[in-house]
Amino acid sequence: MSEQENGQTEESIWVDFKLSGLLLSDKVRELHASIEEEWDSLQRSACQTAAGRALWKHLIHDPVADVLAGEKYLTSFYEKIKKDRLNNAREISGVILAVRTLWFDSHIEAALNSFDGEETQVVLLGAGMDGRAYRLNCLRGSNIFEVDFPTLLQMKTTLLEAVTMTSSNGNQQPAMMARSLTRVAADIRDDNWLEKLQASGYNPERNTVWVLEGILYYLSNLHAVQVLKTIADYCALTHTVLLADFMNKSSTTLANSTFHFYSDWPDHLLPSLGFADVKLSQIGDPDAHFGLMDDPLNLFNRLRNLPRSVETHPDDGSPCCRLYLVKASGSPEKDIP
Ligand SMILES: C[S@@+](CC[C@H](N)C(=O)[O-])C[C@H]1O[C@@H](n2cnc3c(N)ncnc32)[C@H](O)[C@@H]1O
Repeated sequence: MSEQENGQTEESIWVDFKLSGLLLSDKVRELHASIEEEWDSLQRSACQTAAGRALWKHLIHDPVADVLAGEKYLTSFYEKIKKDRLNNAREISGVILAVRTLWFDSHIEAALNSFDGEETQVVLLGAGMDGRAYRLNCLRGSNIFEVDFPTLLQMKTTLLEAVTMTSSNGNQQPAMMARSLTRVAADIRDDNWLEKLQASGYNPERNTVWVLEGILYYLSNLHAVQVLKTIADYCALTHTVLLADFMNKSSTTLANSTFHFYSDWPDHLLPSLGFADVKLSQIGDPDAHFGLMDDPLNLFNRLRNLPRSVETHPDDGSPCCRLYLVKASGSPEKDIP
């Protein structure tokens, strides 16, 4: 049994899973029951993601993740983790999500630091149940915009209000880390999402970090490229950083896949759309490791050792399903020859 840096053993990390009293309140249960009845699988994927973050709490300290995830997703995710541990699986469920989350967190912080204290905006496209505005101290100087479908954002607000009302320690909302938070109800496949963002206070001339985590592959190729191109166009106006994860083709073509857009070479695609600098990482790379990828035989380390052009694994013929973590940026100065 390995011992973590903070003295917790593997065992103690996972055994103390308990649903909080807030989750069991009638109001929160009622709200989550309506999610089950009314939402499609795309929107519900936001609860699934929040559940993963809530359960990997020894690494991701998210004060709102469990309430946003709900009992059903927490319980079923926890059962998967338990099964993986019983089977001595090399990859415990949620490890990709944990690495992905920590990669985005660290790159958001680095991008904000690179802006030298100037006022900044962070736009989360397909924000879902992401709790970063309540979780990341590095956002204290930034204006945050969360863009998602209207029903999802309304539910997120209502759930967080329910926490306030049910909370035994007074009537405070969960503490906000960001300077401001604005929820923008929009479908990013529509032509008017940018108008809606600007009408909500987004300033196209202010330094911006765009966070596209777990969203691009739900879009069609046409829509994904349109969204990326829209963001790239801002590089001519202001310092612009894009953080996004991309699935490769093998990941989206598995049986029963609900994914559409893929790119095997985002480091070629993004410059063609107008980004000046692009850096691509794979899970397990030094900046996408976080001490979680020590086993050389785990799936991700085996993939990293193969050229990216290889589509099936030579050892067992399985498809090489990759998730790329990509930082792309540009600014008006970079366009001057
Ligand atoms: C897997 S969740 C990821 C949520 C969040 N980025 C995170 O990491 O916690 C995908 C989210 O994208 C949102 N989404 C998908 N298609 C969208 C669209 N066309 N416009 C706006 N939001 C969309 C879904 O509603 C959902 O909240």
